[in-house]
Amino acid sequence: MTRTDYCGRIDRRHLEQTVHLTGWVHRRRDHGGVIFIDLRDREGLVQVVCDPDRAATFRTAETLRHEYCVAVTGKVRRRPEGTVNPNLVSGEIEVLAHELAVLNASLTPPFQLDDENLSETVRLTHRVIDLRRPQMQQNLKLRYRAAMAARNYLDRHGFIDIETPTLYKSTPEGAREFLVPSRIHHGMFYALPQSPQLFKQMLMVAGFDRYYQIVKCFRDEDLRADRQPEFTQIDIETSFLSELEIRHLMEGLVRAMWKEALGVDLPDPFPVMTFAEAIARFGSDKPDLRVPLELTELTDLAKSVDFKVFRTAAELPNGRVAALRIPGGGAMTRKEIDDCAPFVAVYGAKGLAWIKVNDAAKPNEEGLQSPIVKFLAEPALREILARTGAQTGDVIFFGADRAGIVNDALGALRVKLGHERGFASADWKPLWVVDFPMFEYNDENKTWGARHHPFTAPKDGHEERFATDPANAIAKAYDVVMNGWEIGGGSVRIHRPEVQQKVFAALGISPEDQQRKFGFLLDALRYGAPPHGGIAFGLDRMAAMMAGVAQIRDVIAFPKTQRGQDLLVDAPTAVTEQQLRDLHIRIRPSDSLK
Ligand code: AMO
Ligand code: AMP
Repeated sequence: MTRTDYCGRIDRRHLEQTVHLTGWVHRRRDHGGVIFIDLRDREGLVQVVCDPDRAATFRTAETLRHEYCVAVTGKVRRRPEGTVNPNLVSGEIEVLAHELAVLNASLTPPFQLDDENLSETVRLTHRVIDLRRPQMQQNLKLRYRAAMAARNYLDRHGFIDIETPTLYKSTPEGAREFLVPSRIHHGMFYALPQSPQLFKQMLMVAGFDRYYQIVKCFRDEDLRADRQPEFTQIDIETSFLSELEIRHLMEGLVRAMWKEALGVDLPDPFPVMTFAEAIARFGSDKPDLRVPLELTELTDLAKSVDFKVFRTAAELPNGRVAALRIPGGGAMTRKEIDDCAPFVAVYGAKGLAWIKVNDAAKPNEEGLQSPIVKFLAEPALREILARTGAQTGDVIFFGADRAGIVNDALGALRVKLGHERGFASADWKPLWVVDFPMFEYNDENKTWGARHHPFTAPKDGHEERFATDPANAIAKAYDVVMNGWEIGGGSVRIHRPEVQQKVFAALGISPEDQQRKFGFLLDALRYGAPPHGGIAFGLDRMAAMMAGVAQIRDVIAFPKTQRGQDLLVDAPTAVTEQQLRDLHIRIRPSDSLK
């Protein structure tokens, strides 16, 4: 007999019909004389009833254990009054089993599927069982629907899916690469692509006009909740469109995905904010706009106060003093306030000054409770209250340091307290962040690096700044931010070889290195390269947001741990001496052994 439908889809339409179902034993309940089985498949549960009248079926039912794989033939009937389960599609019915066959027994699973408190290690080691959990099945189906929505949208708009190589070459694009040794070419390596960036640009030069690919990218970075060493991009490139036109087309894609996968209507158009504004107001280039709190600029004021921590920071060439007002934060206990200091210390903050506003009408030691009021004169305090808009009952936090540290620290504190203290709205808040700087300064190496990647075009007229004022050269680069996560980033590209060479030069790449590393790109640009640009979305991040999970691991079937391991198949592993010989590789003793 062929399967009638998925367990989770049997409902009152099937009443009085004989159905044939397959699935796994989710639960078995022995009700003295009658055995109930919750049979589960990827679409949900159905209740199967085995009564002793059918002796063979009943005897089989008695042998069933968790996760046995079984087939049932039976008749669909209405559940008795009072036993209807409104949480299940199949909640009004049950299946009276006529026949029951064990397709395969199961060992006792390492954990109960409904156990909510499993460690990541247990889950990833037993990923096959973990993936059987209804939540994981839903997550992966949602991810699939999101990807399909993207494909449909891109197809409708004339984008074609073209595959690009996974064995690529080492290029200085940003993240550390994974290398693959070549057997045939002694001492040579491929690199796994961080993204198909240059291939998609060359496809534009080749005249394909609109490309996309849902593609694995590889980056050997430190892992976090929103990062995996291999992850999936919806990678897109188009020719002959302006920055605005590209953004317009691409936000349509995000809207289509949210609509089709989740049934959510995102705003049309998305709000747009410059990088500079995002940093000034939120301390972050990916602000979570569900939280309405904002930073207040105090750098200018801090230059003329006695309090050394503020004044020193304000006088740094790239120093910043800023405040974060938490309305009603006066209700925070001393411990709650003190606990914020170690939180911001993670971002490099050396302290976290604060003022509790007990009486906004008295901007002095009488009305303000704080370890720093004694260092600040009344006019300065009055100005701080005015700028932050502080009211009686608020608390104000302060960051004073290099701007990067203040932004990271107060930006993160804003999001944390915003959510913890109930300021966050429950909606979806997409945002374009635009006008990123072309370059960013690396304090360690004392060099300029590309903020997005070195193929990003400057704003018109900003090319002249490369040599004179690199910090203020702005790029035609844009990110899509959703609820505080960067879900996509892209740019208009450089399509003229001489501009590309200028950017390489600004990044300190010598003409010889330019030719050696990127000769293929420079050559391609010389053959009538069209103006082009694009974007890549992080599919894992989008799916995680849609599923409402905090880790992208929960929307990836077989992810890596924080330490880059696959605990299921046990990778990475050592290889044989012969394999190494074939690849001309000798393992050095690890640094820790030297
Ligand atoms: P970018 O490096 O910004 O751009 O990457 C695009 C998007 O990919 C996602 N992402 C990640 N997701 C999971 N784990 C990671 N380690 C990870 N790294 C990035 C993010 C990010 O927004 N070639 C350019 C795109 C372009 O210019 O068209 C690029 O790769 O959501
Ligand atoms: P101190 O004079 O170092 O004891 O600092 C006085 C107050 O300023 C304390 O509440 C510190 O937490 C705070 N503080 C110190 N350094 C900083 C900083 N870089 N940014 C913000 N607050 C700071």
